[in-house]
Amino acid sequence: MSMCQFALPLLLPALDTPKCKLMLWAMRDIVRKWRPRSLAESRGFREESLVLTKMPTISFVRLGSCSFSKSKLLNEVLSPSQQHHDFFIHRDMDSGNVPREIADGLVEISWYFPAGRENLDLFPEPIAVTNLRGDIESHWPQFSLLTEISSAVFILTESISEREYALLSSLQGSATKYYFILNNQSGKAKEMVGLLNVLAPLLDMKKSQLLVKEQSNNRAELVKKLQSTLQGIITSSPNSTSIQDMAVTARELGIQVDEDDGECWTALEHVEEITAEIQDVAKYKREMLRLQGDLWKNLAKVEKELCRMKGQQDVSPEDYRSQLRERWLELRRQQNQCDLTSGMVKFISGIGQLCPAEKHHFLKWMKYHLDHIARGNLSRLRAEYKEKCCALGDDTQQLAELDELISASSLGVEHFMRELGQFYEAECSMAETAFGAPPPAAPEGQK
Ligand SMILES: *[C@@H]1O[C@H](CO)[C@@H](O)[C@H](O)[C@H]1NC(C)=O
Ligand SMILES: *[C@@H]1O[C@H](CO)[C@@H](O)[C@H](O)[C@H]1NC(C)=O
Ligand SMILES: *[C@@H]1O[C@H](CO)[C@@H](O)[C@H](O)[C@H]1NC(C)=O
Repeated sequence: MSMCQFALPLLLPALDTPKCKLMLWAMRDIVRKWRPRSLAESRGFREESLVLTKMPTISFVRLGSCSFSKSKLLNEVLSPSQQHHDFFIHRDMDSGNVPREIADGLVEISWYFPAGRENLDLFPEPIAVTNLRGDIESHWPQFSLLTEISSAVFILTESISEREYALLSSLQGSATKYYFILNNQSGKAKEMVGLLNVLAPLLDMKKSQLLVKEQSNNRAELVKKLQSTLQGIITSSPNSTSIQDMAVTARELGIQVDEDDGECWTALEHVEEITAEIQDVAKYKREMLRLQGDLWKNLAKVEKELCRMKGQQDVSPEDYRSQLRERWLELRRQQNQCDLTSGMVKFISGIGQLCPAEKHHFLKWMKYHLDHIARGNLSRLRAEYKEKCCALGDDTQQLAELDELISASSLGVEHFMRELGQFYEAECSMAETAFGAPPPAAPEGQK
């Protein structure tokens, strides 16, 4: 859904749970890449885990009923010119008008990421936009969170009752900025403008924070006006928050976060013990994953040669093969002499001792943290590689060196798994030789 740029559920309403739930764990896997305007010239880009990316958040909510679709309006506001995209499902879409069963009270989130095109980007930096489905009066906990995490909250409404006015006045003292979008549906706007003028000093509102959608007006006008209002908000350097920050606020408000269970935290503790030791990926791999370095490379070479028998020259095939086996066995012996490193001991205790649900979380946390550690250098090296590929053409030497660097800088769960595999293989080879069985002629292994 994220790849297709569809909005994602951020806050689930309390359907079968006593409280709403913020989806943080569910979004941990998402990584986004974009080019902010500040990097447009150098053609650089930023690549980050979405839940950690800090950006201004703008929220859109509805008070009472409203005869036009907020989601549809948002799609128009967020779509780059000439390229309409439906980020949010709305009622005028194909099948968009089926009655809501679970979506009432749902908060969805979507993002705008610039691509570094001066004239086409709507906003120079990324922004997050949240959309509350349903009336704020019936979904006050969700709305309260949005007022805490947003730089601006846009309230769409067609009429304001006395009760609703009282609710709005209770927002006095809140740090966020409120904007009202009034739909002048049956000429009622005048009355609402009157009420809002009374409310304005309480909510520290200026006249520009009141947008009226006249029935006679063209829709595109409202969209343009909203876009320029948003641009104004963004250039006023508002507070930036990440989804991880939102989770902190959510907990303070008594909203549940999907990560907050024992299994997830136990797993995280195990993972942090491992990742706390990784400052330099290449160094860590040399020190902690020792069976894989040169030993592993040489083993692979010998195993390949055992299959191909290309370099035998004037030795007889039998002698050549037994020479190779000797070398192979020697390498396995060297691997077998390595002790388990502290990193591997911790990894084994993670996947060995945790219960199945914790193990699942352990592996996902491992992947998330390792990706995060390695990402900076990897994205820089990959960009360099791509550039050199175009510029150098045939200079394979430099490309091969870069390739080597990329490989040295990458680190994932697979490296830990492979290290375990190598321990096992080395141990097996020793045991088999001890019992008199020869090493396999064409060993199974790296292919
Ligand atoms: C921005 O952050 C500062 C410091 O955390 C806080 O005092 C202020 O109220 C925030 N402003 C808004 C609009 O949220
Ligand atoms: C709303 O509509 C009424 C009647 O069509 C009109 O008199 C009024 O000027 C419009 N706008 C506002 C802000 O009241
Ligand atoms: C990234 O590369 C630099 C320079 O080669 C190195 O000093 C640094 O430790 C690397 N960072 C990680 C996380 O490996």
